[in-house]
Amino acid sequence: MGEPWANSVAGIGTDLHLDLTGPRLRAGLTDALREAVRTERLTPGTRLPSSRSLAVDLGIARNTVANAYAELIAEGWLTAQQGSGTRVARRTKPRRAAPAALRPRTHPTYSLLTGSPNLAQFPRREWLAAARRAITGAPHEAFALGEANGRIELRTALANYLARARGVYTDPSRIIICSGFHHALALVAQVLKDRRVRTVAVESYGLDIYREQLSNAGLRTPALQVDEHGARVADLNRLPGVGAALITPAHQFPTGVALPPDRRAAVLDWARATGGLILEDDYDGEFRYDRSPVGALQSLDPERIVYFGTVSKSLAPGLRLAWMVLPAALVPDVVAAKGYLDWVSSSLEQLTLAEFIASGAYDKHVRAMRLRYRRRRDQLVAALAERAPGIRVTGLAAGLQAVVELPPGTEESVIRAAAAHDLEVSGIAEFRYGSTDGRDALVINYSAPLDTEWVGALAALCAVLPPTAGNPAGAT
Ligand SMILES: Cc1ncc(COP(=O)(O)O)c(C=O)c1O
Repeated sequence: MGEPWANSVAGIGTDLHLDLTGPRLRAGLTDALREAVRTERLTPGTRLPSSRSLAVDLGIARNTVANAYAELIAEGWLTAQQGSGTRVARRTKPRRAAPAALRPRTHPTYSLLTGSPNLAQFPRREWLAAARRAITGAPHEAFALGEANGRIELRTALANYLARARGVYTDPSRIIICSGFHHALALVAQVLKDRRVRTVAVESYGLDIYREQLSNAGLRTPALQVDEHGARVADLNRLPGVGAALITPAHQFPTGVALPPDRRAAVLDWARATGGLILEDDYDGEFRYDRSPVGALQSLDPERIVYFGTVSKSLAPGLRLAWMVLPAALVPDVVAAKGYLDWVSSSLEQLTLAEFIASGAYDKHVRAMRLRYRRRRDQLVAALAERAPGIRVTGLAAGLQAVVELPPGTEESVIRAAAAHDLEVSGIAEFRYGSTDGRDALVINYSAPLDTEWVGALAALCAVLPPTAGNPAGAT
């Protein structure tokens, strides 16, 4: 066998590092290639060496390579096209891992997993134009390390935008720019721990990564039950020693309900009576469809609420740009924690976002996406009403996802049936945390699929939903 660095015969072409082990050459080669694609060491679109040159480089028969390529093409890992050789297939990447037991073996054609907005709609041209203007006009000091709380241009643009669009009470001095909500929460968790907070209540439906962030900082995370009106915040008075509560009041994730006014008042009463802190995750507050967005809770008591926002739903999660608006008393500690950890997000991205917001491009984009996602939402409801009558859909008033209620005991089998139809979808159980309600449902992200995939994804979803005798499909 040749060197693991396989070089093309002619000295041109592509190098490919493969570790072939074991006596069965073809199986070993197939496994090594599959593993390289699966782990993305070979990225989608990468052109592989011809079977002849790889065979020469590895010192094995050309047929062995050709057969391994053919097997991987049949499995969907590679593609072959006349004139363009053999390439790593382009696949839709899963946005969030489903539980291992439910994960389909092959990569599905359609995905309705939560996590991402429609990435094809990223406003590339407008973003580039904003970047050009921002960088052209930036002072020389913008290329220095900068302040840990973020560029003043972005904090100023955000202060104006958040006050106008989300009703947030703020000024630039209370805003800290972070690399995502994930990052902001880690910083706040650290500061809470240093201030001897031991317990942060979290909603009984939510994302495990954020709970883990809190527990990694040494905080306990008891569950605050979520019912059809959102988090049961009155229970905060019964949970022992809670110093803070992480909630999604504008649009509970993933159940989709907005916290009603009496509960908004009750959570503030709890914070005032106990000195507790409310952590308000406003991850998709811009997307309200049937009336104007529910304003941020933060403005009701800016000294007891940390407000978190992000571009992850409104623009793209890959930008890693988010912000928090802090009670004045917390600012120095959070800035210090950030300075120790990572200092700053890229100044150039911050300046670009500042320009993007200040020029009105952000509003324009959000408004366009709101229309687009609303249309998708309506198509989802219409398709279910027609093809799966009796299935109830909830959490429709806002956000990028809806909850499709299932008959008791059917969630896992529906997810498996979806996988068999090449559709990747999350069950609500994936997001349950100490919840006392055992409902069966799917959480459907209707925003993310490409236009070319949406109709197929919807058809696959409708095909796997079980018949029910329940309520007719409708918006709630
Ligand atoms: C509930 C919730 N909060 C916050 C976020 C934003 O996280 P980040 O800004 O780290 O991308 C998301 C994104 O998917 C989310 O689902």
